[in-house]
Amino acid sequence: MNRLLTLLGCSLLAATAYAQQAPVPPATPQYRPAYHFTPAAHWMNDPNGMVYHQGTYHLFFQYYPDGMTWGPMHWGHATSPDMLSWKEQPIALYPDSLGYIFSGSAVVDANNTAGFGKGALVAIFTHHDPKGEKASTDKYQNQSLAYSLDAGKTWKKYAQNPVLKNPGIKDFRDPKVSWNEATKKWVMTLATLDRITFYSSPNLKDWTKESEFGQKLGAHGGVWECPDLFPLALGGRNYWVLIVNLNPGGPNGGSATQYFVGQFDGHTFTPLNDKTKWADYGPDEYAGVTWANTGNRRLFLGWMSNWEYANQVPTSPWRSAMTIPRELGLRQEGSEIYLTSKPAAELAGLAKGATTIQNVAVKNTVDLTAQLKATADKHKLTLKTAQLGSFELLLGNAAGEELVIGYDKAANQYFIDRSKAGQVGFNAKFAGRATAPRLSPAAGTELTLYFDAASVELFADQGLTTMTDIFFASKPLTTVKLRAAQGVTFQEISNTPLVPKATGKPAVVGQR
Ligand code: FRU
Repeated sequence: MNRLLTLLGCSLLAATAYAQQAPVPPATPQYRPAYHFTPAAHWMNDPNGMVYHQGTYHLFFQYYPDGMTWGPMHWGHATSPDMLSWKEQPIALYPDSLGYIFSGSAVVDANNTAGFGKGALVAIFTHHDPKGEKASTDKYQNQSLAYSLDAGKTWKKYAQNPVLKNPGIKDFRDPKVSWNEATKKWVMTLATLDRITFYSSPNLKDWTKESEFGQKLGAHGGVWECPDLFPLALGGRNYWVLIVNLNPGGPNGGSATQYFVGQFDGHTFTPLNDKTKWADYGPDEYAGVTWANTGNRRLFLGWMSNWEYANQVPTSPWRSAMTIPRELGLRQEGSEIYLTSKPAAELAGLAKGATTIQNVAVKNTVDLTAQLKATADKHKLTLKTAQLGSFELLLGNAAGEELVIGYDKAANQYFIDRSKAGQVGFNAKFAGRATAPRLSPAAGTELTLYFDAASVELFADQGLTTMTDIFFASKPLTTVKLRAAQGVTFQEISNTPLVPKATGKPAVVGQR
């Protein structure tokens, strides 16, 4: 956390004081997304405790209800039938004498292993004690429980918290708990500074250390945070995916989500190899983890920002959105097995009449705005080509601002360049061109781009390469041009306006 605070450029006390005193900047409704979750007001970071229960997706989140910058953490709460239209609920967990409520997970305790009640929702989170942090005890992050017996409406903290005490590791946090069928025990995947430590428990209260992973594997440009562990099948075989969020040290700077594919026997994680892989290469997906209790679907959601500049992004009266929900899978390319991310099927329900054009031969620059009936800044663009070559897709506005998304054949990279896409001056690290390797050897590709006011999410090659970027144009980017100096033919390009079922401002519930 010290590292985090250094990054934020302030001490905890200063952050709190600043947040309470800073005037709220003028509102920016133009940057409010329609189908991504944002709190009605104030600061948000990581998604927490995501659990599907009785037909409802629960999303909890790191929340500071008294300011627009990071401060003493609460668990905010929102619910949704489809992960796209959200209703903000009252705050679920408030800081207490053991500290702030940092990131964690939630499970359905179907068999009442913890004794809170059959089918109780149990949240497992990190208590971060700011007094201990100030005194540099190195034991100020401990794991605790809270439970709900009314389907997530109200929460009680367990009287004997914490349930897993810190052995003296400064960064000891973000428990992700899941039921392990092989051992018939709960497994906790915990971020412990520069590695993952696995614990097991029969009852969510008594935890036994099983093993450690990763001190010398993967990317280590910063602290390991917010892990996740889950099985996924490929070609009739079962694999385990270990997600490890990292801050800083991401492929385009700052925070990002890496993963390992391997085996987990209930005690130890063994990776297939030591290659570093990223669930999203863009600068603006972080702390991404998956929902509990979704059967065979593995659904992922991340925080759509980056610790490098999250506290300064020019939105008001809220700061930060989540990504769209993504369904994860595995795919083999050559001898490597990769994680794939695809927009969750629920997104199809937002589509309002696609405009499709065929056989578009692009040489130099063509303006497709009229043909694609491109008028919205909340829409999906798909581009299909049988022979991928270098090209640029230019999203522009009357102010001359431009977001450039494309593929560079020589480098075999996709890219998103937001350096001329509007406001960039709020932080020196914001402007720039983010790149991602193309992992597919196929001649052709299909590219899907989701735009929602101030963000773009790119999915290429059946989800092999994913990138998320936020941007803050002074007017909506509604013109669409394509440029390809060497020429590229797109067999199909389509533009689909996306209109959520429940539009308008999110309900202002649970604000103090
Ligand atoms: C990741 C993180 C977590 C921590 C939380 C604090 O973004 O630093 O490790 O629990 O944010 O808000």
